[in-house]
Amino acid sequence: MSTDVHAPASRGRRLPPKDAAPKGRHEEGTVLVTGGAGFIGSHLVDALLARGYRVRVVDDFSTGHWENLADAEATGRVEVWEGSVEDPALLRVAMKGVRWVFHLAARIFVAESVDDPVAYHRTNVLGTVQVLQAAREAGVERVVLASSAAVYGVPERLPLGEDAPLRPLSPYAAEKIANEMDARVFTHLGLPVVALRLFNVYGPRQRPDNPYAAVIVAFLSRWLQGRAPVVYGDGSQTRDFVYVGDVVQAFLRAAQAPQAPGGVFNVCRGRAVSLLDLLAAMRPLFPDHVPEPEFAPPRPGDIPHSIGDPTRAREVLGFQAQTSLEQGLRETLTWMQRHLPLSRER
Ligand SMILES: NC(=O)c1ccc[n+]([C@@H]2O[C@H](COP(=O)([O-])OP(=O)(O)OC[C@H]3O[C@@H](n4cnc5c(N)ncnc54)[C@H](O)[C@@H]3O)[C@@H](O)[C@H]2O)c1
Repeated sequence: MSTDVHAPASRGRRLPPKDAAPKGRHEEGTVLVTGGAGFIGSHLVDALLARGYRVRVVDDFSTGHWENLADAEATGRVEVWEGSVEDPALLRVAMKGVRWVFHLAARIFVAESVDDPVAYHRTNVLGTVQVLQAAREAGVERVVLASSAAVYGVPERLPLGEDAPLRPLSPYAAEKIANEMDARVFTHLGLPVVALRLFNVYGPRQRPDNPYAAVIVAFLSRWLQGRAPVVYGDGSQTRDFVYVGDVVQAFLRAAQAPQAPGGVFNVCRGRAVSLLDLLAAMRPLFPDHVPEPEFAPPRPGDIPHSIGDPTRAREVLGFQAQTSLEQGLRETLTWMQRHLPLSRER
């Protein structure tokens, strides 16, 4: 497969970048977001544009969506390069003159990684090394990459500090550990890299329409359709849900905090929310009657509890999640009602 490395993708070309920084605060420079058409990446792109940066996106649109970039394209300060992080020639061109790289492109479905570990390795490990090497060659100031709480596996004790043992249970988790190791190595080689271990991120633009949908959007979409949410197990399992707007703040801080390079940081709220708590928090958002949840046998490999310790991120990055679960759920539901065709079935 050849890639046109001379011009951004046709959608991006329709709106050539203009010098149209918003009034007020203006930051210098061009930044690259890999995976910028995805759920988290597109929010980061919007936040960077709002601060006055020019933004380049490299995304192969395997799970990303052009609609996620609609606001970004309207600024005229984003260039979208449709292609893969597995393509070093594309990366070399996209990296020219870039100050920071935010590397979020990845294959993200844990169960799928079990079925196709080689393809996952190619994107998540080889792709990441290629991003780091291209950044190093281009003299990028700093790279921030997305790791995952999946690296911890089944925890021995909670909350999970960054020094807890790493017990990957899937190729996806092992690949994120490899990314963190490469982050340290490249920092040692002179390219400052920061790795963020994201916990359960949720918010607008997260899609319920795939077999591995995250639990919040899966539950909300069932109730929006007038159907019963399906709880695997008894619903007592807990997660540390963190709103996407907060996660974006963590990325921005990681790009600037002086002591961050070479480090890994949990990005979480540090609050345990069970699936039953979650359903209780969602119910008041639905004025009409909604069906009671259905309970199904636990899924093999499900982790019973996962809670992060946010202390290191607070102390080193100055990051603290601000969004309450109720507020985050409201924002997510509002977006789903406006943007997703969810037919109501009874
Ligand atoms: N959502 C979460 O709860 C969560 C938790 C932990 C870690 N993460 C990590 O955060 C990052 C973003 O995840 P997300 O939830 O926004 O998922 P997403 O699928 O919406 O975003 C990933 C983006 O990467 C793109 N992509 C995939 N393969 C690519 C390739 N070879 N080249 C270029 N682009 C490619 C996809 O098209 C998509 O736009 C990922 O690295 C993921 O592993 C997410």
